[in-house]
Parts: sequence; C-alpha cells; structure tokens
Amino acid sequence: MIQLIKKTDQCLSFAGFSISKLAEKYDTPLYVISELKIIDNYNRMYEALTKEYNKIRIYYSAKANTNLSVLKTLEREGAYLDAVSPGEVFLAKKAGFLSNRILFTGTSVRNDELRYLLESNVTINIDSLSQLNWLLKITVPNQLSFRINPELGAGHHESCITAGKEAKFGLWEDEVVKGYQKAKNTGVKNFGIHMHIGSGIMSVEPYLIATQRLLKIAKKVREKTKIKFQFINIGGGMGIPYKPGEAPFDTERFAQEICGLYKRKIKEYQLNTPVLCVEPGRYIVGEACALITRVNTIKQTPYKMFIGVDAGFNTLIRPIMYDAYHHILVSTANTSEERVYDVAGPICESGDLLAKNRKLPYVKEGDLLVVLNTGAYGYSMSSQYNSRPRAAEVLVKEHKHVLVRKRETFKDLIRGQRIAKWLK
Ligand SMILES: Cc1ncc(COP(=O)(O)O)c(C=O)c1O
Repeated sequence: MIQLIKKTDQCLSFAGFSISKLAEKYDTPLYVISELKIIDNYNRMYEALTKEYNKIRIYYSAKANTNLSVLKTLEREGAYLDAVSPGEVFLAKKAGFLSNRILFTGTSVRNDELRYLLESNVTINIDSLSQLNWLLKITVPNQLSFRINPELGAGHHESCITAGKEAKFGLWEDEVVKGYQKAKNTGVKNFGIHMHIGSGIMSVEPYLIATQRLLKIAKKVREKTKIKFQFINIGGGMGIPYKPGEAPFDTERFAQEICGLYKRKIKEYQLNTPVLCVEPGRYIVGEACALITRVNTIKQTPYKMFIGVDAGFNTLIRPIMYDAYHHILVSTANTSEERVYDVAGPICESGDLLAKNRKLPYVKEGDLLVVLNTGAYGYSMSSQYNSRPRAAEVLVKEHKHVLVRKRETFKDLIRGQRIAKWLK
C-alpha cells in the first residue's frame, strides 16, 4: 500500500512533495492527486479478481472524479469506464477511451441524449421499460444491458443507497423478462445484466446477497428468452476507510467470495461464462487525493473555537451533504497539544463546515490544513456557490507535479452569461 502523507521536520508531505511548497506554487484550495496511488488501487482490485476468475473487467465509475488526467491514467491501465451522463461519455472519449470500453448507465435520460450515446457507439444500460421503448424507436443497438433492482441496497448514507424499495433505479424483477424479450425480438444481439446497490459499502455481505439475486434473475431471463449473457456487472460502491483505525474494504475476501459464488452459480444456472464486471469509483480514487486549504482566521466565540479556511462546501460538499468524516491534518503543527475546533469555510451559511468539534493540534492563522481522502466526490461535486471560482487540481507522480486543472477566475463566473438587452 502506498502511503501518501508523511511528516518531515518542517511540515507534511504528499507523495514526497512538501505541502507548503505545493501551496506556495499553486495556491489554495488545492486538490493534489497521486497517479501512482490510483494505479495501485486499480491493480489491487484487478489482480484480486483475476486470481479467482479469468474474465474480469473493471469499469471505473467516472462520476467520482472526472479529471482528464485521472481518466487517462485509468485508460492506460486498461480500465473500462462507467458513465452516467453524456458529458462523462464525452470526457471519457477525450481521455482516449474507445467506445467499446464505455458503459452508460443513466436514469431519466432525454431522447437527444440517447441519440448522442447511440452515435457514440457506447453500450447503454437500460434503467426502465420506458427508456427501452424510446431507445428502440430511435434505433436497434447491437448490444444492450439492463440495470436490475435486486431489492437490496446498501451504503454509507441514505442518499447513496441505490437499490431496494425506495430507489428510483433499475427494473424490478417482474418487468425484466419483458424488457429482454422485447429487445431480443426487435433485433438486439448481445446482452448484459447489471446492478449497483449503493456507495461506501465496507462489507462483502450485501454484495453476496445481491449478486445471488441478480444471478437468479439472469437465470430466469435465460430460461424464458434463451438469451446468452456476454457480461454480468455487479456494480461499484466498495468503500474506503475515512476514519483513522477503520479497517479497509477486504478486497481479497470480496474477490474470493464473489467469484466463488459467481462460478458456482453460472455453472448451476447454465449461464456459460460471462465476463464479470465491477464498477468502483471511490475505491480507486478516494484515497489518492488530498485537499490543501489555508487558515485565514481563528475565531473564538463564547461557545466555540472556529478555524476559518479557504475551502468550504463549494470545494468539498461531502461533510455537509452526507455528514461525512474527512480526516484533517495540520501541515505545520509543531506541538502535540490539541484543542477542539470547528473547521469552517468561507461560504455564507452556518452549515459550511469541513469538521465539527474536531480535536486538532494548535492552529495558527496562515497554517495549512490537509483534508484527506478527497479524491472521490470532491472536485466532481464542487460548485461556484457564493460566486467562488473552483479550486485547482495538481497531479503528482514520482519526482513530478503538474497543474492538471487551472484554478477558475472571475471570468469563469460570467462564462455563458449576458445581461438581457432590455436591462441595458
Ligand atoms: C451506476 C453506478 N455505478 C458505480 C458507482 C460508483 O460508486 P462508488 O464510487 O461508491 O464506487 C455509482 C455511484 O453512485 C453508480 O451510480
């Protein structure tokens, strides 16, 4: 396992680079991404799975982080790509992904978007019978997949549970055969089946139960329609430890137990040997990135001690959106004495906190804080709220670092806008 953060005499370093020097060169708030850590995470999952079954594909779930250099890193490693919007397909193609390595899984998709996807020649993963009908009115693709709701969801927050009773995603079992039969009758030749049960899952059990259900549904489809599946995709959602001391996702056990179940069931259900696909996002990029932010203000109220930093929920929304914990280090801490702080951003809302009641070493104005594990759903969920230009992103590898996304400027705040003629 690559350890990214190290303590040197003066301050912390990330992948061998001094946090202070990175902040000095690129300014803050700054996302710093390690290419080698992404490669390491991808290969750990790939090797664990291929040890158990020889037809494996990892679809990197682009929504976690769509920086082109991140996408390119994974394209070069041989990853496939899970896109959930036409924009992600566009970015994946820009990063060099061939269309036959992209799977589109969308919900509430517009017809012009379907046309773009068909023209792009990517495989579409159907989310509803309604979407199937619209698609088949446009054209009959050679290959299709259906997202199934296996009636079991899991995840670190209720908004991240994407299967089960409350979920808007996928087809329910009673509609599945109808969907496949219609696609087959219309002329679709190749088929896949898919599920994604949620995000931030730390145990293997939900995958085992849901995979079992998915395979049973695949069996039913095979029996009723005689369809031969090319691939079976059990989704992403594998979690990472955010809190110190938390156990990591057990990749080896996941691979052994899932592949064991898969091999038994595809034989028992006579499903031939379809490719087994997974589509992790967070697992691959989450730990590969840190957010550097500078302390502007220290403020003591009668009740609280606030650290005011230059990254708010415009830069990292997970703490307020999901009540998510991100570990924070003080780069230049030269004391082991601690006190309790709220770490607040510059956004004009009381909820703008990166951490609440967090014990940290004594902090001074001008210090740098390092917010860990921000590679997934960090930049990709950032915004210009409060008219704050978005942060910059830097990629590091061995002895090199380079700006891979410029910091936005005020010009980006007015891009595409104009004042109505009648107001002038
Ligand atoms: C369809 C689909 N696949 C994969 C993922 C990846 O999830 P994670 O980043 O938790 O692995 C998501 C995320 O919500 C998703 O919606």
